[in-house]
Amino acid sequence: MTRYDAIGRGYAQARRADPRIQRQIHAALGDARTVVNVGAGTGNYEPFDRAVIAVEPAATMLGQRPPDAAPAVQAVAEHLPFLDRAFDAALAVLTIHHWSELDAGLAELQRVAQRQVILLFEPELDHSFWLVADYVPEWSALPTERTAPGVAAVAPRLNVRSVEVVPVPADCQDGFGGAYWNRPEMYLEPEVHAGISSLAQLPAEVLARMAKGLRRDLESGAWDARYGALRAQTQIDLGYRLVIAG
Ligand SMILES: C[S@@+](CC[C@H](N)C(=O)[O-])C[C@H]1O[C@@H](n2cnc3c(N)ncnc32)[C@H](O)[C@@H]1O
Repeated sequence: MTRYDAIGRGYAQARRADPRIQRQIHAALGDARTVVNVGAGTGNYEPFDRAVIAVEPAATMLGQRPPDAAPAVQAVAEHLPFLDRAFDAALAVLTIHHWSELDAGLAELQRVAQRQVILLFEPELDHSFWLVADYVPEWSALPTERTAPGVAAVAPRLNVRSVEVVPVPADCQDGFGGAYWNRPEMYLEPEVHAGISSLAQLPAEVLARMAKGLRRDLESGAWDARYGALRAQTQIDLGYRLVIAG
């Protein structure tokens, strides 16, 4: 049983592609006609106008792929069941921090595709996000977050061509960790926790304490006194990066 078999049950409800981030990812795929989406989950960010094959280890996630999603194989990044250069591009979206062997996974992306497009987050910026710093410091101690590979970790292993900031829009449609940076009330919702692996991995009592502290500060106005300016901002850089290599 993989981590996402345990924590992925509410994923399809909590997570969907944000159209602006999707456009950025699809532009990064360039003229690739064939794409392997590794750590594909429920299929978010997969292009519909190219030939796509998805790779995903968790049966719970495979079972939530919509009927019209790309065909998927149950496998891990570290051992991709494809021939060398079988695809024009390999895509990996918010997944590499879950891999057990980063180097092996990146080598496989390079082996099966000429171009690699990876959406990751910079751990230091992630850990300084107000939710983590003020309400749930346990988040940054989790193995998936503590050792999360940022650009500096992947760069020596790939032929990096460019690194783009992926701004998170104020009305982000996806529900990943930082998505609700200016809608703090959303972090009180259990369905939102289910879509964020760092929260879904934490014990219920930690989440209850997080929600209690946040609710108190929202009711008293303390959150708005400290961070209220965020509510007027249209987007933010929270450390999400798109690495284009090959
Ligand atoms: C946060 S989800 C991202 C899913 C999808 N890419 C998206 O953007 O919605 C992370 C995914 O990585 C998968 N994963 C974990 N370990 C993996 C590995 N070693 N190889 C490939 N995928 C893995 C998980 O099962 C999970 O579906």
